[in-house]
Formats: sequence, C-alpha cells, structure tokens
Amino acid sequence: MKLNIAVLPGDGIGPEIIGQALRVTEAICEKFGHELSYEYGIVGACAIDEVGSPYPEATHELCMESDAVLFGAIGDPKYDNNPSAKVRPEQGLLKMRKDLGLYANLRPITTFPSLIHKSPLRADLVEGADFMCVRELTGGLYFGRPQGRSEDNNTAYDTCVYTREEVERILHLSYKYARQRRKKVTVVDKANVLCTSRLWREVAQEIEKQYPDVETEYMFVDNAAMQIIQWPKRFDVLVTENLFGDILTDESSVITGSLGMLPSASIGIHTSVFEPIHGSYPQAAGKNIANPVATILSAAMMFEYAFNLMDEGKLIRDAVNASLEEGIVTEDIASGGKAYSTSEVGDWIVNFVKK
Ligand code: IPM
Ligand code: MN
Repeated sequence: MKLNIAVLPGDGIGPEIIGQALRVTEAICEKFGHELSYEYGIVGACAIDEVGSPYPEATHELCMESDAVLFGAIGDPKYDNNPSAKVRPEQGLLKMRKDLGLYANLRPITTFPSLIHKSPLRADLVEGADFMCVRELTGGLYFGRPQGRSEDNNTAYDTCVYTREEVERILHLSYKYARQRRKKVTVVDKANVLCTSRLWREVAQEIEKQYPDVETEYMFVDNAAMQIIQWPKRFDVLVTENLFGDILTDESSVITGSLGMLPSASIGIHTSVFEPIHGSYPQAAGKNIANPVATILSAAMMFEYAFNLMDEGKLIRDAVNASLEEGIVTEDIASGGKAYSTSEVGDWIVNFVKK
C-alpha cells in the first residue's frame, strides 16, 4: 500500500517525539512492504516565527493532499505568559481542526500492566480500566462566536454553540465504536444548567433508540469527573462536548500512570490527524528525555484508523508493551530504575519491529 503522510512536528518536544514515531512508521512500512512517502509542514509557534501564521496555508494544503497527518505538539511559554498576544500557537491547532473538519477526537484510555504502580489511584481501581473518550472537537466554546471584550475592556465573553447536526454525527460515531467494544455509551453533559447540554441530551435520547443493542447512560460532567477517578472501569465509550472533553481526557490520562503514554486520533471530514494527548513540554525540549510512546502509539492509531492496517498497528503496540516490560522507559515512568533517552526508547522499539 502507498502511504502518503504529512509530518507536523510543531514546538517544544514535538520534533524529538515525532522523530521517533516516524522511525517506527518507516520500520513498519519496510517490514510489511508499504511504500511510505512523507513531507514536513510547519505549525504552531515555530510557524509564527517563520511566516507569521500558526497554521499557514501551505501546511493546510499539504494536510489536504496527504492520507494522514502525524502531529507532534504546539505551544510556547512566551505565549502562555502573554495573554495579550494577538497571534497564538493554539490558534493554529484550532484552525487545523476546523479547516480539516476534524469533529471527533478519539482518546483511548488504557492501562499498562507494568505502569499500574505509577497511577495515583489504587491498583484495584485502575487495573483493566479501558475506555474511549470521544470528544467533540470543532464546536462549543472553542469556536462559538461572539467572543471578545466589551468596549471598556472590563467584560469578556465566549459563546457556546452546538447544532443538532453536530451532536448527531458525534453520537452516531460513538455508538459505532461502542458496538465494536463493550456496547455502552455514557453521554456527558451539564443539562441541568446549560442549554447546549439540553440539546445534546434531547438529540441523544432520540438517537439512542436506533441502537437498542447498546446501553446508554447520561451523566453530568461534574459527576463524570468524580466517577473517572472513583470507578474508571464503569466506562466504555464516553462522549462529550469540546471543553468537557478537553478537561476529562487530561484527567483520564493520568490515572493510567503518565500523560506521556496516551495517543489520540482526530477524525472527520478530510484528512485525519494523529497526535499525542500531551503538550509541547518546553522544559524538556532538546534534551532527549521526553517520552515518545504517546506519539509512537499515535502512529499505531494512524495505521489502524487511516489505513485500516490492523496488524501493523498491533505490532507497534506489542513493541511498546515489550519495551515497558523490559524497563526501556524514559524518566517520567522509570520510577527509580534506569531512565533511557527519547532516542534510546525509539531505537529499542524500532529494533523490536525489525526483528
Ligand atoms: C488538547 C489541547 C488543546 C485543546 C490546546 C493546545 C488548544 O489541550 O488537544 O487537548 O485545548 O484542545
Ligand atoms: Mn487538552
């Protein structure tokens, strides 16, 4: 098969972790006889520095022409500490999501047996937890307009907007994944307070009837935040709006031991994007210490979701699991044992794939 991918390393540790994911991707293609071609694009703070835009038109065209996008991370402290900056790296990520029509962000939360002791939760609570967060990605407060400041600058507003169609498509997708899993969907909202949430719930109550084989439950977001740490095993597919999904997935990711382990896929209308759930970790940039596993597992998701190449994805997962069992891990999960560098972990996983 021909795989034509766009590679967007971005900022901070992005280039280092993407470098390892790309090597793993190359090794897989070689092993399974696929023809890989890839091209780099700029995005985020580095794109602002180079051309003044965090998601330049040339990068968008590259993504549109590619079969999949492998994405590192964006963000830079010089913007985080400057709330009045007009152009921000995050705008690049949001523009990419919007322009590529990436309305669904899939964040699988799985545990790794060798990392259970790293979880802030008791082992018996996390062991075997395995659920998929489906986060709506192109609506809600992130994109609703108007957004801004009053004339005297002392009042600020964001607008939360959802249309029936936006809610329907993300719910159908969630039921589709639930059917491939343990057949349970938890719809998370704040329908006791928010009008948009009441639309979500109304639409979900209609759609649920089309999937009688799947169990549907409704949960307020504050309760969901609590249940995720009290009883994570109760979830199978959790679907929610953009901002709730942003918050709940960071929460979910750490119960598995490290933010550095979890991949994601953003899918929708045009080319899908595969990226780690963590950020650009600027303190570690250039030090060769960041955990490349989330990005390598994002490459696994790319084989599975963008190309339907399941064996290829599985070999990457097997390689990652083996590296964890052997203790070939970066400092965030080394827990007293030897810490390996980003590239050493990459080397080990590449060699496992080649074997
Ligand atoms: C994420 C990130 C982004 C988001 C930021 C960087 C804009 O936190 O992908 O979860 O809030 O969506
Ligand atoms: Mn986030």
